Amino acid sequence: MSKVRTLRLLKMKEKGEKIVMLTAYDYFMARLLDEAGVDIVLVGDSVGMVHLGFPDTLSVTLDMIIHHCAAVRRGIKSALLVGDMPFMTYKINEEEALRNAARLVQEGGCEAVKIEGGESVARFAARIVHAGIPVMGHIGLIPQSVHQLGGYRVQGKEEEDVTRLVSDARALEQAGCFVIVIEAVPPEVGKRITESVHIPTIGIGAGPWCDGQVLVINDMLGLAHQKPPHFVKQYVDLGMSARKAVEQFIQDVHKGAFPDTEHCYTE
Ligand code: KIV
Repeated sequence: MSKVRTLRLLKMKEKGEKIVMLTAYDYFMARLLDEAGVDIVLVGDSVGMVHLGFPDTLSVTLDMIIHHCAAVRRGIKSALLVGDMPFMTYKINEEEALRNAARLVQEGGCEAVKIEGGESVARFAARIVHAGIPVMGHIGLIPQSVHQLGGYRVQGKEEEDVTRLVSDARALEQAGCFVIVIEAVPPEVGKRITESVHIPTIGIGAGPWCDGQVLVINDMLGLAHQKPPHFVKQYVDLGMSARKAVEQFIQDVHKGAFPDTEHCYTE
């Protein structure tokens, strides 16, 4: 597959071709996703929960994300690499937002950054875009605001919330964002937001009418300790297979069945 760039994603929306995005946090998985043909690889701050054992994404720092982005970068040839800007790394002032986005590009090898929020973060998005770094927006359930939202709950249930989400999406488009992630809203709301902007939307728990779909890779592969959200389709249970393999290894070692002659050097 040829290199995915932001312009291609816009063309995909125009042609009605769906965009596929998945998260990755290390070289192995990044290479697998890239070779499989994923359009966008996101180093999400979900790394905090699925790889670092934090209860939420709030403890993830810029240095942590950069460390993971650099590993993912080494595994990717074609997909667009997007790095999440962690909690409070882009909302203090425009200069800090730009400096931190630049670190994701220079040290993490990212081609774009993602920020959470709508109208309230549009000026930070605009500053980063203006400096030449593509920005992906993220509205709906925004996990960095979990305490303000009162938990991980579906958004856009009331008409006034939907109106606000539509103006959030328009504000991000106006600020120059190239894609908007919509998380945890009813399908009709995903559709309304998607139809109200020219840039592509990528849904996660936002129904089938978004221009693309994203999942956290650990959730879809069964590699998470916590129960995945309702909208996740788990394609395989790698966690269970890995556990069985480890239990078998323990038994083999205890019984002296490993190593057998096949797994020993011969002279
Ligand atoms: O952090 C993350 O993985 C994300 C995706 C769920 C979109 O933001």
